[in-house]
Amino acid sequence: MTSYLETLFGLGGRTAMVTGGSSGIGQAMATALYRAGANVILVARTASRLEEVAASLQSGPSAPHVETIAADLADRADVARVAKRTDVDILVNSAAINVRPPMDSLTDDVWDQTLAANLTAPFLLGQAFAPAMAERGWGRIINVVSQQAFRAYGNSGAYGAAKAGLVGLTRSQAEAWSGRGVTSNAVAPGVVQTPLTEPTVFNDPAKVAAHAKRAMIGRNGVPDDFAGCAVYLASTASAAVTGQTLFVDGGYSAS
Ligand SMILES: NC(=O)c1ccc[n+]([C@@H]2O[C@H](COP(=O)([O-])OP(=O)(O)OC[C@H]3O[C@@H](n4cnc5c(N)ncnc54)[C@H](OP(=O)(O)O)[C@@H]3O)[C@@H](O)[C@H]2O)c1
Repeated sequence: MTSYLETLFGLGGRTAMVTGGSSGIGQAMATALYRAGANVILVARTASRLEEVAASLQSGPSAPHVETIAADLADRADVARVAKRTDVDILVNSAAINVRPPMDSLTDDVWDQTLAANLTAPFLLGQAFAPAMAERGWGRIINVVSQQAFRAYGNSGAYGAAKAGLVGLTRSQAEAWSGRGVTSNAVAPGVVQTPLTEPTVFNDPAKVAAHAKRAMIGRNGVPDDFAGCAVYLASTASAAVTGQTLFVDGGYSAS
């Protein structure tokens, strides 16, 4: 018999694509979706790392499938290759780069690369998958954004502009497709220990302590903080939640 929690949160029979699923927050979200029953497609540039994560997930012949696609989402030809899939029910856009030179020295190239990977790729993948989700009457888009979508924060530059755009794109997607069963929501992390933030924050104990103090829960984020919100926003339980940004930041943005 299907349990009550399974009815609310179970993802059996769904297929989730998670960009950036080979590391940090994306890996934690992909793992959670897989454990909730979804087949998972992991997308990132580094094939060897994708294979490691896929191997860590696969747990038996009757378990959901895991596939990997090595692709550079800043490259339109690679995005087009990823977008050929026709079976995606849940799209998680977690892949991003964070190159943040001071505004005075922000080059066109860094701007173009950042917008391509962090904003245009989520747009293109949404355009590729959401109409088919809408046709099937069910779908979920989860866009991983940032505090910097809402506030300036240490050379926000192109990164903050791209993340602000992604919050706007989330609303546009919600407006377009929610009436046909496809929700789109954003998740805004606080300061989370991942390879992205290791060189800029977590190699400096003073910064680690200052950020932890500012969070209401008294600590910085860890990737596993994103397991529950991923399953919730990917599941039937969140059917009436759309166009929103969920701050999973320990109260950092509210302090
Ligand atoms: N960590 C934080 O404190 C924090 C705070 C706010 C928001 N975020 C957001 O959370 C998301 C995940 O960040 P994270 O901290 O988990 O970073 P992470 O550990 O560095 O993971 C980034 C992932 O994206 C992939 N990726 C990067 N550029 C790509 C590209 N051009 N094409 C395809 N894949 C690409 C990486 O794999 P490859 O390098 O192999 O491609 C990796 O799987 C990002 O959207 C980030 O902006 C993080």
